[in-house]
This record gives sequence, C-alpha cells and structure tokens, in this order.
Amino acid sequence: MNKNNATLRAQFGPDFEFGTATSAYQIEGHQFGGAGRTHWDDFAATPGNVVRAEHGAVACDHYHRYAEDFDLIQAAGFDSYRFSTSWARVLPEGRGAVNQEGLDYYDRLVDALLERGLKPNLTLYHWELPSALADLGGWRNRDIAHWFADYAQIIAARLGDRLHAIAPINEPWCVSFLSHFVGAHAPGLRDIRAAVRSMHHVLLAHGTAITALREMGQTNLGGVFNLEWSGPADETPAAQEAALMHDAYYNRFFLEGVFQKSYPNRLMPTFEPHLPKGWQDDFDTIGAPLDWCGINYYTRSLIAPSDGPWPHHHAVAGPLPKTQMGWEIYPEGLYKFLMRLKDEYNITMPIYVTENGMAHEDQIAEGQIADPQRIAYIQDHLDAVARARNEGVNVQGYYVWSLLDNYEWALGYEKRFGLIHVDFDTLERTPKASYHWLKDNLSRPAP
Ligand code: FCB
Repeated sequence: MNKNNATLRAQFGPDFEFGTATSAYQIEGHQFGGAGRTHWDDFAATPGNVVRAEHGAVACDHYHRYAEDFDLIQAAGFDSYRFSTSWARVLPEGRGAVNQEGLDYYDRLVDALLERGLKPNLTLYHWELPSALADLGGWRNRDIAHWFADYAQIIAARLGDRLHAIAPINEPWCVSFLSHFVGAHAPGLRDIRAAVRSMHHVLLAHGTAITALREMGQTNLGGVFNLEWSGPADETPAAQEAALMHDAYYNRFFLEGVFQKSYPNRLMPTFEPHLPKGWQDDFDTIGAPLDWCGINYYTRSLIAPSDGPWPHHHAVAGPLPKTQMGWEIYPEGLYKFLMRLKDEYNITMPIYVTENGMAHEDQIAEGQIADPQRIAYIQDHLDAVARARNEGVNVQGYYVWSLLDNYEWALGYEKRFGLIHVDFDTLERTPKASYHWLKDNLSRPAP
C-alpha cells in the first residue's frame, strides 16, 4: 500500500469510495432532543453489564456538535459518511407518535452532509431498540418486522430523497446471537431459543424493510454483515469441525439466509426446534434482492472443541498482535471473506467494507496523538481489499470505524476506535496522526 508515495486515491482509482462510520447511540447523546428510552439505557443501568455502568446519555455530544464533526470529515477528503438514525429518537415508544424534533435533527444532518459534498450512507438500526418494544419481547417477537418497516418508511419519507444508500440493520449477528445467546449486549439474554428466534426475526425485519423501502421507490439498498474469520485452534479434526460450526452460526447463517434463501444444514439439528413455525416460508422476504453488500470486518477467532452443550466449543487466545480489544490483527481474513463472497455466494453486486478499524490506548502528548498502529492496521486491511479487487471481487468502497472515539457498548468509553480523539470530560476533538495520514492520502488533486 502506498508504495512509491502513491496515494490511496491513486491506488484505488477515482471511483473507489472512502468513508468513515459512526452510529447514533455511540456518539449523539441520547438525553438530548426528546429521544425515548432504549434497551441500552436499561442494560447499562444493570450492574455488571457495562464497564463502569457507562451509557450514551451524552456520549460525544454529536447532537450539538455535528457541524464541527462534519467539517472534519470533509477536510480529510472522505467521499461518504455512514451513520445511523436512532429508532427511539424518532419514535420514542417504537411505534405511534413521532418525535418531530428527532426527525428534524436527522433532516439537518443530511443537509449538513450534502452541503459538504459528503454522501449520506444511512443505517436504520444500530442497536438502540426502544424500551417499549423490548417490553413486547423485542427481537424475539415476530411483529418486530412490521414495527421496523414502519419506522423505516417514516425515515425514508423524510430523508429518502437525499440519501446515497440505505442499509436496514447493522450486524445481524450482534443484534441476535451476541445479545441473546452470549448475553454481552442488550438485552443481555443467554437463551438458545431467544437467540435462534431473534436470528430469524432480524433477517425477516431486514427483508421486510427492504421490501417496504423499494415500494416507496428507494434505491441503493444493501445489507451490512459482521464477519469474523473462524479458524481451528489446531489441526485436529475436532478443532476443524468446531471452527466450521462457529463459522456457520456467526457468518454463514446470515449470508446464506439473505443470498441463498436457506440456513446452513450444520445448524439445523440444534436450531430447528427453536425456529418459529413456518420459518421456511419467510425466505422470499429475507432474500429480497439487494443493490450492495456491506461487510464489517475486524478479526478472527481460533476455535477449540469443548464439553458441554452446543456449540461444544470455545475460543482460545491466538498468537498474533492484538488491538486494545484483545482482537488479533488478521487482514488475511478480510481478503478471504471477500473471495468467499465472490466464489461461494456468487456476489457480483458492489461490495463495501462498511466498517474496519482498531481500538488503541491513544494518548495525547502536547496536543498530538501518534497512532502508527492504526495507520498500519488500515493500510494492511486496504492491501487485503486491493488483493481481492485484483482477483475480481467487486469491492467499491471502504469505511473506517470510527470517525470519533465513542461509546464502545459494554466496554464503555475506554476503547478508542476514533480517527479523532475525544476528551470525554471537555468533549474536545483532536485529530490523531491516522486522521492526518488519511487526509494526505485522500485529498484529490485540484482539477
Ligand atoms: C462493530 C459495531 C460498532 C463498533 C465496532 C467496534 O461491531 O458495529 O458499533 O462497536 O464493532
């Protein structure tokens, strides 16, 4: 990457889209502007769920500081910005009365992006479920597909004429499995039936929203999947089998559901008893055609077999250098997933890396933040993208997670993913060296 001092622009060509990403609850400040309560507020208020019980009430105060933040995105030379609207900000009870203040706010955001020449790439659900819908069972309730599609239509009716792209749901695995089986995210359940049903419902909601948006004439609709490479902890057949199972419920369930209208056979003995009645009839909705495919990629897991109930395995620490999250740095996994999308799922539509980046213990010294590790991480992952492109994968863009240090969910404010440092006492923004590096690379030559 960047050999002979060529810029990223030169390497990827003028049409490749460079963006950066955030999400509503992680940056906005949910206490402002009449937003309703969310299951993240409830989850964080319960001891032991979130580091220091931190929540998103103020976060980066992007609610008030968005103009400054968008100036920074523009100055870096990005083409687009991936952000999300909060369901509870627009519909405080999840359904029914609209909070006009919330809708007006997102209207201002979209205009502010367009004024700066940035393409708005919207995600409709990045995890802050209104508490009133959680009370009704949230993702365990099949009705969520229609609640969600109604919300999607309210957003599209107001903003849809100015959006560059829309994805209904960020990371279906996290919304369902991580939140209902692992219990690490809201609502913090650890229950296989809740997990399997929410996995199905999240895809049903995705497809129902896609169909509703198409009916309104919206274009450039996609899906955003989080993929984590599953490797065997050793060469034994048992470890290899364990890694295949991990791959099946983490990655393939969602890709196969949407792109092949089926679920992996390997999961069926465990999943079938928990899937809602008539689940097979939902695939035409789940598999509604998309215009683009987004993947969020960070790391791999090494999987070893273990005793006990399904999935009969656990992850073990790997040997590679790790980020502040403890995640191994493994760019090869991004290359392999991109190849898999082409070779196994026959995906020819545009693919975007909709999130990639790393957390690091960044320190300010005399107003500067040196983060060479982050520059290397981004560069190495872009190399993986370039390799896949050379081998015929239709990757058309890459988004850095994240614009700002922000609320990293159950890990609170401690894990810093931003290109821009945020002091969470003063809310002051300070661009890191990685921001300046991207700026040098992305600026376009004067016409
Ligand atoms: C992804 C999420 C994003 C952020 C990054 C680190 O799974 O989409 O909100 O937490 O991980």
